[in-house]
Amino acid sequence: MTSLSVTAAPCSCACSCEPSEAELFARLDEVINDYHEKPGGLIPALQTAQSIFGYLPETVIRRIADGFGKTVSEVAGVVTFYSFFTLHPRGKNLVRVCLGTACYVRGGKEVLDAFRKKLEIDVGETTPDRQFSLEVGRCFGACGMAPVVMVNETVYQRVKPARVGEMVNQIMAGAAVAGEKEHA
Ligand code: FES
Repeated sequence: MTSLSVTAAPCSCACSCEPSEAELFARLDEVINDYHEKPGGLIPALQTAQSIFGYLPETVIRRIADGFGKTVSEVAGVVTFYSFFTLHPRGKNLVRVCLGTACYVRGGKEVLDAFRKKLEIDVGETTPDRQFSLEVGRCFGACGMAPVVMVNETVYQRVKPARVGEMVNQIMAGAAVAGEKEHA
């Protein structure tokens, strides 16, 4: 695992506040304190830590490992097992393209390729401006509307590759994306 400097999760409120690294780690210590003696407390501690930092850098994993009396490799093993944990900073907008069976056979792979081309990143990567991260999903429970894409908490149904460029431009502009969608 490479060493990473900590970057705070992007703040979504209107203020200009940006917590310091010391503040973030103080919050992390509270989380560890809350969970380290609870059975099964590691997963919620990691989830909360990810919401604080936006991802789980090595320094955070080490701190949690120390707090839970586990080895770094034990905690890292949990982090890499579950797809909702990430070791890298995510962008402001998380794009998840479903590659479950229904979506795959109805063109999910082509939709994914269109996002890769438009954003110029691969699966698991974030654009240099930290606007977008690209991931794949394994079924969002909307198979009848395949192919499906989730952007943050919004589900886009029957997405066509030809529309991907327009979708990205509209999300960048903060505008509502035309077409079929519903909030998760
Ligand atoms: S397979 Fe994509 S939503 Fe179910």
